[in-house]
Amino acid sequence: MLPTVKVNKKYFTKLDLSIIPSPSYVIDTKIIKDNLRIFNKLKKDTDVKILLALKAFSLKNLFPIISNVLDGVCASGLNEAKFGKKYFKGLISTYSPAFKDTEFSDIMKYSQHITFNSISQIKKYKKLCVNENIEIGVRINPLYSEVEVSKYNSSSFDSRLGIHINQLDKIDFTDIKGIHFHSLCEQNFDALENTWHIIWPYLKNIVENLEWINLGGGHHITRSDYNLSKLTNFLLKLKTLTNCQIILEPGEAVVFQSGVLVGEILDYVHGYNKKIPNIAITDISPVCHMPDVIEAPYRPLLMNEPDKGISVVLGGPSCLAGDIIGEYNFIEKPKIGDKIVFLDQAHYTLVKTNFFNGINHPEVILWNSEKNDFKVIKSFDFKDFETRN
Ligand SMILES: Cc1ncc(COP(=O)(O)O)c(C=O)c1O
Repeated sequence: MLPTVKVNKKYFTKLDLSIIPSPSYVIDTKIIKDNLRIFNKLKKDTDVKILLALKAFSLKNLFPIISNVLDGVCASGLNEAKFGKKYFKGLISTYSPAFKDTEFSDIMKYSQHITFNSISQIKKYKKLCVNENIEIGVRINPLYSEVEVSKYNSSSFDSRLGIHINQLDKIDFTDIKGIHFHSLCEQNFDALENTWHIIWPYLKNIVENLEWINLGGGHHITRSDYNLSKLTNFLLKLKTLTNCQIILEPGEAVVFQSGVLVGEILDYVHGYNKKIPNIAITDISPVCHMPDVIEAPYRPLLMNEPDKGISVVLGGPSCLAGDIIGEYNFIEKPKIGDKIVFLDQAHYTLVKTNFFNGINHPEVILWNSEKNDFKVIKSFDFKDFETRN
């Protein structure tokens, strides 16, 4: 998650921290249902197909409610495609920067759409897909992006993701059914429209041969300031203009704001630097439990953080010097054993956890904020660590 995202700080304030084990991811099923209501309306209003991007969130316990609304999943390769087939209803659309021969026949078993990243991969696998009635897509790079963090900009000139839009005339579109682009990241509607303006002049000559256009992910549709009415009008316009099935494959927006990560203060260390007197060790390791804090990087929002107060640097229990969540304000210095809560931790967290230093994964809890009931659905122990090694 990038630092600019607006999160509703009132969510999760009713959660009784005293009964929540630490560390744990707590997912509020009510918020997921609220998000799904937005997608459901969008589908009804525009006839768009919406796929869950498994790379962002793949907690199968929630698939029954998610797959009741969404049309399928977008998979990044064999395991996600197989997982989608087993646990989710509907369309499986698989894209990978490059497929391997050893996996391709299985990928075809589980996918209805396969999107290729290069002309050479199209040439290599086209016939196999046609024989198996799999719809072939081509990922294009629009060479236009409003993503400022370069690591998340898949549409730069040097990006390895997608065929440059100005190279479309080099592709033989026989048997190709779809175009795919993914160039947004946590963005509002205008970025999509601006991207489309760049793409359309190239696409208009080939669109009559196509059956679908996949607009990728990165649409922050469930955010309160997202311009849904503009998106609705745009999707309706696109359908008429292109006569294609329009597809979106959001990940983050499906579970936006629905999860928190609860941890606790384990200890305080020195404070040799007078400017940073309070350094706490917590049982949350950003490296293991919130890798985007290090990778993006970003500073996760702490629940109930005042604008000013006692400043505490919160760090994780791993050996990495940089295993630091950030510096936070507290009204009172938290005591050892006190709980801390980081907001908006459902997406790109549970899918990315790792056992670095043998640090256990947080438990996973489903909570319903309306009924205030909660259920631990996953706990990890030595066996999980042992089997992955
Ligand atoms: C090809 C593709 N589709 C969909 C997504 C989902 O994006 P988001 O979770 O930002 O909506 C991603 C994210 O990286 C992606 O690479």
